[in-house]
Amino acid sequence: MKRMVVILVLGTLAWAAMQSAPSSSPTSPNEAPAEFDGQTNGIVDQATHEADQAKFDEVEDIPDGLGPIYNAQSCRECHQNPVSGGLSQITELRVGHRNSAGKFVNSSVPIADGTAVITGRTLINDRAICPNASFPNIQLQERVPDREKIRTLRTSLNLLGDGFIEAVPDETFKNLAADQCRKSHGKICGKAISVPVLEASGTYRIGRFGWKDQHASLLSFAGDAYLNEMGITNRLMPTEVTTLCDTVPDPENTPEADGLADIDHFARFMRATKAPPRDAQLADTANAKKGSVLFNKIGCAVCHVRTLETAPAGTPINGGTFTVPDALGGKQFHPFSDFLLHDVGTGDGIVIPVEEHFGRAYREMQSTFNITANRMRTPPLWGARTRSRLMHDGQSLTFEDAILRHRGEAEGARKKFGHLSEAEKKQLITFLKSL
Ligand code: HEC
Ligand code: HEC
Repeated sequence: MKRMVVILVLGTLAWAAMQSAPSSSPTSPNEAPAEFDGQTNGIVDQATHEADQAKFDEVEDIPDGLGPIYNAQSCRECHQNPVSGGLSQITELRVGHRNSAGKFVNSSVPIADGTAVITGRTLINDRAICPNASFPNIQLQERVPDREKIRTLRTSLNLLGDGFIEAVPDETFKNLAADQCRKSHGKICGKAISVPVLEASGTYRIGRFGWKDQHASLLSFAGDAYLNEMGITNRLMPTEVTTLCDTVPDPENTPEADGLADIDHFARFMRATKAPPRDAQLADTANAKKGSVLFNKIGCAVCHVRTLETAPAGTPINGGTFTVPDALGGKQFHPFSDFLLHDVGTGDGIVIPVEEHFGRAYREMQSTFNITANRMRTPPLWGARTRSRLMHDGQSLTFEDAILRHRGEAEGARKKFGHLSEAEKKQLITFLKSL
């Protein structure tokens, strides 16, 4: 009888603790949900999330505004593995050159037998809508001109869980940069750069998306991608890259009955995704657990930061155009990245092309981005097991190859990796395969 009472009391206490514990306490914030299940993280209901995903998955054609030059017909084409919003093997081409003074210059790409020249970009679009039945004689395909000697590939990135990254305060990234620089005595000093928030003209935020941290806002990225990947103009990027062969008036993407344009659906879809989950089975093995300890011990986690926290719900971000919702606010997540730009010896020489990503209005800012030439963003390693080709150019095919390419700021970590025993190297790589 006495025992029953004790159990009851303890049970009640445990239940009370469970009710009051996580959500309100700032020191133990909620874990962000992580699952490849296509379900909303809670910022919208499931039906809305699926409708947004349908927009993201939709295949566009010429009457919808596709092109005139473009890379693919839908967002999903490049962001799909293992579910919509993930990544893919698709790479893109970026080129440019240095002038006689050593300054990086965006590419100039003649098209249509030299009757037009595309400037202000580093991206080379891999596809064009003509020659076609209506314009049989316009040769619109972009090709790399001989003089654009700086040439690189860039792999597609994962978008799942990006809403959590967007909701991290600027100060977090600035503090990470200052801390790692101080603790490493100046050897590892990631850079946080300010980039324009296109939907809040004149405002800036610390960049965190793309291989060069070229955007801070998912809506800005959606506007940029809709134009530069699919050739579809929108309110944030209203100017066609070329009007040759174009038969659809600008802007091609007008709001629908619900007041939302396609880019708003894309942004809401990305914000509502759950984070990439670990391979729970592999993560639970002794090898992966030992590898996880080594990952910290040899300095990988200095840049591939395990855990970040979002701003509290209700915080205005992106120049006040978006308020962190309950489902994203005060959440802890595990991206394995500091989202800072580092020179790890793999720099591709390409500076952020301002006009391409932000529009003509920002052209005067071009020179402020010179530091991005040979720095790359630390890629988040969450979901790395779904990636068949690694590093910005996709040229490293195994985790060991990727690690051995780390130089510059990551020289120390690479050396320590080299000093591990064969068994320890295997443990570290098992850990990476569990991410
Ligand atoms: C042809 C392939 C392709 C298509 C189509 C495409 N993307 Fe991407 N996406 C990429 C590549 C490549 C990157 C990395 C770009 C870089 O930084 O150079 C990327 C990066 C991103 C990022 C940054 C992710 C992060 O966490 O850093 C976002 C957001 C994004 N794309 C959204 C979209 C949306 C929305 C669409 C549809 C409008 C779209 N993309 C269409 C290839 C594509
Ligand atoms: C100084 C910061 C820094 C340190 C330390 C560091 N990395 Fe990296 N890591 C980067 C950057 C930056 C890249 C992207 C380089 C590129 O794409 O050219 C990268 C890329 C990677 C990739 C490829 C990811 C992908 O999605 O393509 C893996 C895997 C990786 N690092 C693992 C490690 C491991 C393991 C260690 C420890 C031995 C380590 N890194 C130490 C900054 C760092």
